[in-house]
Amino acid sequence: MNRPVPITGAQAQAALDKAVEQVRLNLPRYTKKCQHHSSVNGVYPACKNEEWTCGFWPGEIWLAYERTRDGAFRQAGLALVDSFERRIRRKVKVAHHDMGFLYTPSCVAAYKLTGEEKARQAAILAADQLVSRFQPRGEFIQAWGRMGSPINYRFIIDCLLNLPLLYWASRETGEEKYADIAKRHTATCMANSFRPDGSTYHTFYMRKDGRPGHGRTCQGYKDDSFWARGQAWGVYGSILSYRYTGESKALDTFKRALEFYLTRLPDDLVPCWDMLFQPDSGEPRDSSSAAIVACGLLEAARVLPPGEGAEYERLAREMVGSLAADYAVPVPMKGTGLILHGTYSKKSPYNTCFPEGVDECTSWGDFYYMEALTRLCADWDPYW
Ligand code: GLY
Repeated sequence: MNRPVPITGAQAQAALDKAVEQVRLNLPRYTKKCQHHSSVNGVYPACKNEEWTCGFWPGEIWLAYERTRDGAFRQAGLALVDSFERRIRRKVKVAHHDMGFLYTPSCVAAYKLTGEEKARQAAILAADQLVSRFQPRGEFIQAWGRMGSPINYRFIIDCLLNLPLLYWASRETGEEKYADIAKRHTATCMANSFRPDGSTYHTFYMRKDGRPGHGRTCQGYKDDSFWARGQAWGVYGSILSYRYTGESKALDTFKRALEFYLTRLPDDLVPCWDMLFQPDSGEPRDSSSAAIVACGLLEAARVLPPGEGAEYERLAREMVGSLAADYAVPVPMKGTGLILHGTYSKKSPYNTCFPEGVDECTSWGDFYYMEALTRLCADWDPYW
């Protein structure tokens, strides 16, 4: 296998500075509005603060602020905090589990960096909203839809990234209930979402009596295939669980999920949208999957002893090197993102998703690429 060249420290600094300049260029377009989940022909439409993905753009702004300490980023980030506070107070499109994706990079980040009380309050309300979706029968956080409805009595692998909001809320309020629900959900997820070979189901149904049901995909190719971003959420989510709980089960899960991921990667370490496919299939890539996994690897390097961590950092440098060399948007323009060739939802004969954002920039792909670069350039205190 021809492995990509690991990104050097100097290259990571240059790539991060380039990303910061793209964020600066986009600031006027997405301060009063948010950034749509994916680009359309390479440019992000502006949108209302109503999508599950709206937190990633403010997260990029806060990363740009950390890099530069430029007041323009702080001002824009705080303007978006107002919008996020209104959204959760008025409960605008929050009847789902994605409170962590929304409120961690926007409001937890803002509070950590500025001490802004409104950001803290908004993030706690979001954590309350997330725990309200906990189903005691089966012990899981219901992802979507009306609570208890049979077609939605399920959780999804992505939710592991929503849980740091709960651990944060427990620390902030001194109330154990948030962390307790995070731990119960994690136990159910790790027992069911991860298959014996380390691959993952996207969604998993529980029975009404609390016993495990069955796995189903929504955004992967089919139920028993290997949706690349779901696998990435599994990798990053399990090492974050390990950081919060110290449980060996979480570390084992991280290692198994990562091992499976590595066996399915093409030479440039950026998978097709479902890892059932290799690039010669002509199927599009999902660059966001590589960015998310790189963050998981760098988190592992941060929390594990140096001897173990060094190998994870080397792998992350190869992944980020590949993204920076061959996937980064070559010429920044107003409204473009940071990395190309992401896939949000690709329709297959077997899945249930609405097709959108295929071979485009994705808001989270950009965010996690920038997070990975930040982790490589500084001793970063994670938002998650
Ligand atoms: N969390 C939904 C997705 O990754 O597309």
